[in-house]
Amino acid sequence: MKLKQGQKAIVTGASTGLGVHIAEELAKKGVDLSLAARSKTNLEKVKAYLLAKYDIKIIAIPTDISKQHELETLVLETVTQFGSIDILVNNAGIENTLWFGDTTRNEINAAIDINLKGTLNLSHLVLKHMIKQNRGHIVNISSGTGYLPMAYNEVYATTKAGIIGFTKALRQSLQDQGVKVSASVVAPGFMDGSGMYENMKEQYKVVAPKILGTSEMKTLTRAFIVAIEKDKPDVIVSAGFPRLIVALSIFNQRTFEKITKLFNVSGFFRAIAESNKAKTKADRKRRSVKGNIRNLTRLLWTNKVKRRTPNGQKEYEEVKPNVQTLAQLLWEIDLEEQKAQKEESGGANPHKG
Ligand SMILES: NC(=O)c1ccc[n+]([C@@H]2O[C@H](COP(=O)([O-])OP(=O)(O)OC[C@H]3O[C@@H](n4cnc5c(N)ncnc54)[C@H](OP(=O)(O)O)[C@@H]3O)[C@@H](O)[C@H]2O)c1
Repeated sequence: MKLKQGQKAIVTGASTGLGVHIAEELAKKGVDLSLAARSKTNLEKVKAYLLAKYDIKIIAIPTDISKQHELETLVLETVTQFGSIDILVNNAGIENTLWFGDTTRNEINAAIDINLKGTLNLSHLVLKHMIKQNRGHIVNISSGTGYLPMAYNEVYATTKAGIIGFTKALRQSLQDQGVKVSASVVAPGFMDGSGMYENMKEQYKVVAPKILGTSEMKTLTRAFIVAIEKDKPDVIVSAGFPRLIVALSIFNQRTFEKITKLFNVSGFFRAIAESNKAKTKADRKRRSVKGNIRNLTRLLWTNKVKRRTPNGQKEYEEVKPNVQTLAQLLWEIDLEEQKAQKEESGGANPHKG
């Protein structure tokens, strides 16, 4: 589909990182934008930046893509204000490099809800409009990890591989139905400039393994435009010859594993995973301490404490504040927190039954 002035696009994850560059690339073509992400402040900043440079219409709609009613509002608002949706860019995503055994059920669910279900559910809503108008293109942002799953990325790789499967199946269904609607996957490798890899570099003081390399943002934005205009099934934006490496991994995963071992690729991800594990532990402890302090204040202020009932619900209970009740409260809260933490991490541990 040729990109033209006046077309309308939804771009998710447009508050920071790659989404901003993708939105700007569409703005250069004169495409009106519906920008979505959770942070209203950042969306408004991006909107102001783009409006100062390009003569287009922009709406910013704070949206959590893991919430169906917010997706429905995003689509309804966009159609009401723009009249149509020609392009959907499912770019919003989260990443958490962590050993699978240390990943909590909440973290697994969040990654699936945002990266995978968010993409499918929003596509589902937008496709209705695209098919009705017999025009449109969906671009799903996956990752090199979707093609070449790496160590300590079990959950992220699952979601990104899922996006590839979804897009390729969807393309063929749309072709079979003879509609002028299509979909492409764009799979970035490590991107220099902004986004997750830049955050990784800053946070963990790491650089990408030489064998994987990094790519410039303009390579990604160019690939993104080509994907739509040339209706490419998938584009892998990575240094070197990514398709050859993908072919090797399909043809002979053992050889691929030997090569990654030679270049210590797992070591790179292990370093991040270990750092994340330490951070997660510290975060949980901080949350537990915060919870205790809140309940203590509540008791002294209102003579009430918040307790969890046996079926997991929270309720308030009247308690007389004296040394004994204070001590008992602290003890109970601490036990409760420990139990919750154990439950949370235990469910995801493959070594436990
Ligand atoms: N950067 C890379 O090197 C790289 C490599 C491979 C693949 N990717 C993929 O590229 C996409 C963009 O990543 P990035 O590098 O730009 O990361 P980023 O800088 O962390 O940006 C992620 C974007 O997703 C949004 N987001 C996160 N959770 C959301 C939710 N529940 N609902 C709505 N929006 C949400 C964030 O906005 P809010 O926080 O405001 O919601 C933000 O705009 C992702 O799908 C990622 O997997 C990136």
